[in-house]
Amino acid sequence: MNEPLFKFGQIVEGEYFCNRATELADLARMLQGGASVWVYSPRRYGKSSLVRTCFGGMDPSTFLTVEIDLYATRSTTDLTRILLAGFARTLQAHLGTVDKALDFARDLLAALRPAITLDPSGQPQLTLERREPSQVELEEILDLPARLAERADRRVVVALDEFQEIDRIDGLDARLRSVFQQQSRVSYVLCGSKRHLMERMFADRGAPLYGFARHLEIGPIEKSEWLAYLTQRLASASLTVDPDLLEMVIDLAGGHPHYVQLFAQHLKELIDREVDPSRFEEELIAVILASQESATRLFLDGLTSAQLNVLRVIASGTRSGLLSETVRTRFALPATSTVQSALKSLYAHGVLDQLEGEYRLLDPVLELYLKERLAV
Ligand SMILES: Nc1ncnc2c1ncn2[C@@H]1O[C@H](COP(=O)(O)OP(=O)(O)OP(=O)(O)O)[C@@H](O)[C@H]1O
Ligand SMILES: [Mg+2]
Repeated sequence: MNEPLFKFGQIVEGEYFCNRATELADLARMLQGGASVWVYSPRRYGKSSLVRTCFGGMDPSTFLTVEIDLYATRSTTDLTRILLAGFARTLQAHLGTVDKALDFARDLLAALRPAITLDPSGQPQLTLERREPSQVELEEILDLPARLAERADRRVVVALDEFQEIDRIDGLDARLRSVFQQQSRVSYVLCGSKRHLMERMFADRGAPLYGFARHLEIGPIEKSEWLAYLTQRLASASLTVDPDLLEMVIDLAGGHPHYVQLFAQHLKELIDREVDPSRFEEELIAVILASQESATRLFLDGLTSAQLNVLRVIASGTRSGLLSETVRTRFALPATSTVQSALKSLYAHGVLDQLEGEYRLLDPVLELYLKERLAV
């Protein structure tokens, strides 16, 4: 099967990875300098892709990199299991063979029971289990990167993706801090997509992780970078598209990485169907709305009417002053306190972002849907 021209909904690398030159350089510099870094961005802005690309560029003779996704963490037992699986994968990947990895793991921690199992495709795979679950403390598992660094005589960089999930476990941030700060040869990249949780963990003066890590902000990708990327991807399939049309695609997605790739794929399909370019915009909007309609409706059905109306007003372009009498009267919004709690909850759930007093919708499809179907 041919590789798709655009990729979305998964980590992207190599020819599917657009720019991020500054963010890559900043992240690499901080990690090489021995710092830990926390990275917030809204969902699907490219945190995981950025980290993987950065890790791919680090010298393996100096750095051992580990990528662990904490998404499924609901308890310390989950965390232990996820960390062990992640470290096992790293050992295997870095040492090349499962046998070497097995020896290494046996040495690494006496309380672990390393074993070789077959994965679903029949490939041998190293697994690490605790010998006696109750006897091994989470702290000991958390200390694995430091032991790994010592044994491998390299710095270890551990990416903990979806880090905000640790907030579900009471007191875990303090336990992490006390282990992490003793690990002089280990750095962490802590990524999350819930602004209020990430900020509470890292930017609140009283929080245990306050001051532990440097901050890296990643935003939408610049239009000029997208233009170059889209032009080059299309050229790889011998296609040329008027830059104005490419700009239209980028603008529709607001530069949002996942949606630029998704919309570009829709555009490619319009080209394949030989739709007249003068109708691209209209067709593209129709395809986007049709393909996302049921998910969008499901989401909107779960909102209170105050939340829905606030979103409609913001989507129509009124991004500030939502609590003022003028705006509330003009759009028939409810009482200040109701609007305020609607905004607060939409922000907490990552539907809205607020910067310099202006609200904006984070999901360009939702914005498009509200503008096209539920305009105020
Ligand atoms: N640098 C990039 N160049 C091109 N596309 C990108 C880039 N970064 C992200 N994308 C697009 O965004 C999608 C999501 O990327 P990724 O999974 O890295 O984001 P994320 O922020 O980790 O998402 P989540 O919050 O869901 O974990 C990718 O599948 C790809 O379509
Ligand atoms: Mg991710």
